[in-house]
Amino acid sequence: MSLLIMGTGYVGITTALALAELGWPVSGFDPDARKLQLLSQGILPIHEPGLDQLLEKHLQRGGVRFLGDPGQAVSAHKIIFLCVGTPPNPDGSANLRYIREAAETIGAHMTDEKLIVVKSTVPVGTDERIVRWIETSQTARIPFDVVVNPEFLREGSALEDALHPDRIVIGSDGNGPAEMLMKLYERLDCPIIVTTPEAAVMIKYASNAFLATKISFINELSRLCGQLGIDISDVARGMGLDPRIGKLFLRAGIGYGGSCFPKDVDALVHTGKMHGVDLTILERAAGVNRSQPLFQLARWEQSLSSYTGKTIAVLGVAFKPDTDDVREAPALTIIAELAARGANVRVHDPLAKLPVELQSGQAVQYPTIEEVLHGADAAILCTEWADYIHADWGRLKAYMKGNFLFDGRNALDGEALSSRGYRYCGVSKH
Ligand code: UDX
Repeated sequence: MSLLIMGTGYVGITTALALAELGWPVSGFDPDARKLQLLSQGILPIHEPGLDQLLEKHLQRGGVRFLGDPGQAVSAHKIIFLCVGTPPNPDGSANLRYIREAAETIGAHMTDEKLIVVKSTVPVGTDERIVRWIETSQTARIPFDVVVNPEFLREGSALEDALHPDRIVIGSDGNGPAEMLMKLYERLDCPIIVTTPEAAVMIKYASNAFLATKISFINELSRLCGQLGIDISDVARGMGLDPRIGKLFLRAGIGYGGSCFPKDVDALVHTGKMHGVDLTILERAAGVNRSQPLFQLARWEQSLSSYTGKTIAVLGVAFKPDTDDVREAPALTIIAELAARGANVRVHDPLAKLPVELQSGQAVQYPTIEEVLHGADAAILCTEWADYIHADWGRLKAYMKGNFLFDGRNALDGEALSSRGYRYCGVSKH
């Protein structure tokens, strides 16, 4: 079985290399010729641990290739994975433009029967729209099937997640296509759920929405714990030992970001509205998340009396460690707000770049931790990179003017920092 992956973004590249690792010959297609050229040379457009070695390995073995000609790409492959982006529209709904373009490309170029596998996160009912888009672009009636097979990859551990998944979800109206996908994944050892395309899509949205809600729950509770002098990390640990609750995704902080949680929560709320159902818990979870960085900023400001005219070092721009992705990163809200309040914002991240629209005389990125801390009245940790957690904070203190250390991820050892002369304040921690 030869496989085509349409879309060579985060999901597409990871899917392509994981399938190559499982022994299948894989081709990648993308309309972006420059991206394909780089990939063909073994250069990844994204940072993701382990992917570069795998790309090099499978390019050398001929297990992976990249094609820019849509006609060749579509006609030469039996199974086509849709891994294109579904960015949010202003109203929160998913923008299906790239899905539609890919479907029309398939319809226009298919010469024999195909199985289309939708990996992109798409709203309920999109599989039927894909069928119509393909049919209306076909020049002759050629049969095809569309199945939904959502991904559950986390940035920073995408390869591990793809090769050792917790579960595989296949949404299909027929047995044949589902069996073909099960054959593709037969070397993976995990439960496989075969259901309708609608339920498969909902499993993906519900999983992300539930995890996002769990984070907003602990973040909102951290506000009360902060008032009452209770350490939210102790509460999370105590709760998490109950196996019905579980300890994961209970880390309080400045909120969740990334390309999935904010977008998928909004998209599910939007789907609810379209069907006359208010998903109030999710609306509130999104609201808590939007206000969480601002809430923490206001709380920390009490120690400084005001951010205006102060020099603040922001540590971490990426929405989480081990990625250079800044999409919906809470650090961006913090940087923009500090600059708006008249602070001089110095920024550092081991990998991620401060977006151009935030670069100004008031927000400047520095290449080292020493430089970012230079002359700072306070430092705010926004992303829990190992570089910050294992930094020699005793030595670094000499670079700062003040001694406030605000830990937006509750990732640093507050007691150790206090003993080194810092005035430490985390999320619900003093
Ligand atoms: C998420 C899902 O985990 C994955 O299954 C899905 O396929 C895509 O979306 P990802 O966005 O890569 O993956 O990151 P994840 O590790 O889930 O973290 C998302 C955000 O939540 C980050 O900003 C992280 O800092 C934050 N987070 C996570 C918390 O604030 N507290 C936690 O306890 C866990």
